[in-house]
Amino acid sequence: MALESYFEPVEGGDIAFTVEAPKLKFGVGSLREVGEDAKALGMTRIALYTDERVAKLEAVEQAVKAVRAAGLSVELFDQVEVEPTDRSFKAGAAFAKEGKFDGFISVGGGSAMDTAKASNLYATYPAEFLTYVNAPVGEARPVPGPLRPHIACPTTFGTASETTGIAIFDMLEMGAKTGIAHRLLRPSLGVLDPSTLMTLPKPVVAANGFDVFSHAIESLTARPFSHRAAPATPDKRPLLQGSNPYSDLACVEAIRLVGENIERAIKLPDDLSAREPLMFAGMLAGIGFGNAGCHVPHAMAYAVAGLVRDYRPEGWPNDHAMVPHGISVILNAPAVFRSVASACPDRHLRAAAAFGADVRNVPEERAGELLADRVIELMRRSEVPNGLQGVGYTDDDIEALTDRTVPQARLLVNSPCPVGRDELRDLFKAAMRYW
Ligand SMILES: NC(=O)c1ccc[n+]([C@@H]2O[C@H](COP(=O)([O-])OP(=O)(O)OC[C@H]3O[C@@H](n4cnc5c(N)ncnc54)[C@H](O)[C@@H]3O)[C@@H](O)[C@H]2O)c1
Ligand SMILES: [Fe+2]
Repeated sequence: MALESYFEPVEGGDIAFTVEAPKLKFGVGSLREVGEDAKALGMTRIALYTDERVAKLEAVEQAVKAVRAAGLSVELFDQVEVEPTDRSFKAGAAFAKEGKFDGFISVGGGSAMDTAKASNLYATYPAEFLTYVNAPVGEARPVPGPLRPHIACPTTFGTASETTGIAIFDMLEMGAKTGIAHRLLRPSLGVLDPSTLMTLPKPVVAANGFDVFSHAIESLTARPFSHRAAPATPDKRPLLQGSNPYSDLACVEAIRLVGENIERAIKLPDDLSAREPLMFAGMLAGIGFGNAGCHVPHAMAYAVAGLVRDYRPEGWPNDHAMVPHGISVILNAPAVFRSVASACPDRHLRAAAAFGADVRNVPEERAGELLADRVIELMRRSEVPNGLQGVGYTDDDIEALTDRTVPQARLLVNSPCPVGRDELRDLFKAAMRYW
């Protein structure tokens, strides 16, 4: 007997799932409380991480003011690179080491939050850079112990980095996107103040919205936790467990909120009532994928972002070529939904319905198609590039993209059906162009 037939136990499969969520605070104006929050965590001498653009926004001014009003000292590191690299992680870590800080605050998107996590790690437990980096790029050694307190204050809403123990960066000399992942990297507190989103450029709103959508749907359609091999001992149960009844709840609601609000948030940049639900959706999807895990669209996205040649999107700094994270994910998503939906068609229909599609009388065989069509329609209306060719790839790149994706085993095993090299090749081909 399972809560739902999808989670029916199988021989040798896991028998339980766990629920972990970091401490989060959500509300318009909550950033003004960050000084008191820092004090409550025992911080006295704070390093505040941000990027050059966000440094000029009210959010940073508010955070600095709040920290000083609480009688704490604060120094700014505003050299966070957008879509960080090993170079900018190292610069952040050097700043942290030199300043001997006892607390960290990050204000910005995933780039600022991830840089603060890595800087905290290397300042607290100094080591060669590759020591903690995920294998096969690095040695993947576990974080040795607790880090200094870190309050993450997102000013975007897609990555949910405030909820995760992950820090992602580009390893420049390898052209590879990789990261550091460990429970202890998780911020001590996330402060989500939707008013910070009011200055977010439209293309970034679209990219974040699609990232949230993909987190939610990938978690909802991931292999069920009960089909993953049971761990030898309870402490070996992974953080990303596969879909489970708890993350389902958060994800379906996140999909509904994105579907209802994304277009309004793009069209009406002054309307807080459209951006507030998007930030809440990002938080919900973060809790969802933080326990369930993403699968194939995110696995493919690392290659799409890592092999970029000269794509420079409008809305982001123009100093280097990049495919922003949310875009690199959504360009793969329709092809993946069409291909894997037969493994759990009812879940794809549930997602399509939450996303505003009419699913009455739709047969299960059409579930993937229906969901993909709905996403593509929204991609077109949001002026997202038309498939991978829209960010500079051609069929000649399929082999290299596939080579880069095969090692993303942690994500690929979470797919609802097996996806190997041949399937990946077909998926990249199908993702080249959608309309
Ligand atoms: N740690 C995780 O769990 C996790 C998960 C997914 C992605 N990521 C990583 O996060 C990074 C992307 O983060 P992101 O999408 O949040 O964006 P970002 O931090 O890269 O910022 C995107 C752009 O928006 C600007 N910006 C941010 N907030 C703004 C605001 N309120 N007003 C105006 N401009 C603003 C930034 O200056 C930047 O130019 C990537 O490196 C990605 O790989 C991390
Ligand atoms: Fe993502």
